[in-house]
Amino acid sequence: MTVPITITFARPGRKAAGTQVVLAGANVALGVQATALGVGDLIKRAAATASFKGKAMAKLDLLAPAETDLDRIVVVGAGKPDELTEYDWLRLGGVAMSALLKSKSATVHVERTDGGKLAAKHVADFALGMKLRAYSYDRFKTTKDENGKPPARIAVTVACADPAGARRAWASAEAIGEGVVLARDLVNEPANELGPVEFAARASELKKLGVAVEILTEKELKKLNMAALLGVAQGSPRPPRVAVMRWTGGKAKEPPVTFIGKGVVFDTGGISIKPAANMEDMKGDMAGAAAVVGVMKALAGRKAKVHAVGIIGLVENMPDGAAQRPGDIVKAKSGKTIEIVNTDAEGRLVLCDLLAYAEGRFKPRLMVDLATLTGAIIIALGHTNAGLFASDDELAEALLAAGTATGDTLWRMPLGPAYDKLIESKFADMKNVGGRAAGAVSAAQFLKRFVDKTPWAHIDLAGTAMSSPQNEINQSWASGWGVRLLDRMVSDKYEK
Ligand code: BES
Ligand code: MN
Ligand code: ZN
Repeated sequence: MTVPITITFARPGRKAAGTQVVLAGANVALGVQATALGVGDLIKRAAATASFKGKAMAKLDLLAPAETDLDRIVVVGAGKPDELTEYDWLRLGGVAMSALLKSKSATVHVERTDGGKLAAKHVADFALGMKLRAYSYDRFKTTKDENGKPPARIAVTVACADPAGARRAWASAEAIGEGVVLARDLVNEPANELGPVEFAARASELKKLGVAVEILTEKELKKLNMAALLGVAQGSPRPPRVAVMRWTGGKAKEPPVTFIGKGVVFDTGGISIKPAANMEDMKGDMAGAAAVVGVMKALAGRKAKVHAVGIIGLVENMPDGAAQRPGDIVKAKSGKTIEIVNTDAEGRLVLCDLLAYAEGRFKPRLMVDLATLTGAIIIALGHTNAGLFASDDELAEALLAAGTATGDTLWRMPLGPAYDKLIESKFADMKNVGGRAAGAVSAAQFLKRFVDKTPWAHIDLAGTAMSSPQNEINQSWASGWGVRLLDRMVSDKYEK
C-alpha cells in the first residue's frame, strides 16, 4: 500500500552522486560527512537567503551546482546535537523522507553535526522515521495524482560512520516499524472489508512469525460465559471473534505480560445510535486491538526475550431487531451483573470479559488494556496524550517512561471510590455508564471492577490512534499509536 523503500547502510562513498540529504545543526553547522561533499559554501549562502538557521525539523531544498555529480541537496535542520532525543531522531528521518517521496534513490548522511560519535541506535531511529513517513494508505485509490505515478521503490542509502552497528540496530527497529504499519493498515481499513472474522484472519497471519494464535468463535465464547461481549455482538449479522496471540520468546512457564485490545470493527452506538456526523470515524474503533496485534508482530519480529500474550475482542456494534436494548441486564464472565443503560458504551462490555478471561487463564504478571473507549478522553487531553489509568504505580511509571521515550505519550488520570460510585445501578451490580462528568474515569472504574489482583493499566487512545494531527512520522489517518510504546515498555522493563 505504501511506496516501498529499501534502506541500506554504508560508509560515505568517496564519490558522492545524485540526491544527497545532509543534517545541519544550529547556525548551519555541518558534520564531517556533509562537509566532505564540498558544497558547504553553497549551503551557507542558500541558508542565509532563506533564513534557514538549522533549527530542528526545518528543511532547505537545493539544486546542486552544475559542475558536480550531485543533483539535489536536501538540508534538514538538526538544532543542537545534545538536545536531540530518540524521538527527535525519528522525526528527523521523517523530515528527510518527506523530501524524497518522488525520488528513485538518495543518499542520506546521518551524523552528529558537531563531529561527535552518533549511537547506532539513533541511526536506526532515523531510518525508522523514514519508513513511517513513507507510509500511506492508498489501497482504494484507483486514480493517480496529477504528478503521475510515484516511483515503484525508493532506494535509500544511509551513510554513517558505523554501518555494521546501524544494521544490527535496524533489525529490531524495522520489526517495530512493521508492527506500526500493520496497526495503521488495520485502523485505516473500512469496516466492510474488515469485520471480526477478517480481523481474526489478519491476526492469524502472525503464525508465520512463530506466534501461537487461537481464534475463539461464538460457540466457544458462549461456553466461556462471555455474555457481556456477546451482548454487544448480537445486533450484527457478522459473528464475534476473540483472538489469543502468544509469543514465548522468554520462558513459557513464567507469567506473561498481557495486552488486551478493544476491537469494535464498527461502532454505530447500537440502539443508542450515534449521530451521523463523523460516524465514519468509528471504523477505527478497533485501534486498541490493532495496537495489540501490532506490538505482537513487533515482539515476534525482533525475537524479543519475553513471554507475551495479546488478546483482542472483535465485535460489531449494530442496531437491529436482535440487538441489545437499554435496560437489558447481562451476567458478565466474572459473574457480576451489568445493567446496559446505553448501548453505545460497548467497549467496556467487550473488555470486561477479556480481562476476567486473561486473569483466570494466564495468571499474568501484568495486564494493559488499550481501547478507543471514550469521547471524554478527547475532551480532557485532546490528541497529544492518551489517558493512562493504573492500579499499580510501578506499571504506570514503566508506561509513562516508555511514552516519553517513544513520543507515544501518556497522561495519568485518577481512579478512586468517588468515581466508582458513579456506576452504581438500581437493578444490577453496576450500570455501564456513569454520566457525562468524568466520563473517561468512570469507564476506567468499570474496567477495574473486573480485575482481581493483577497489576493493571488501562489506556484510552480515542484521541491519539486516529484522526490526530499529521506529524513528521505520520501522514495517515491512523497513527499506529501504542505499538512503539508497548514494545519499549517490554524492552526496558520486562525483557531479559
Ligand atoms: N467508540 C466510542 C468512543 C470514541 C469516541 C472513540 C470518539 C473515538 C472517537 C465509545 O464506544 C463510545 O461511544 N463512548 C461513549 C460513552 C458514553 C455513551 C458513556 C462516548 O464517549 O460518548
Ligand atoms: Mn460506543
Ligand atoms: Zn466504541
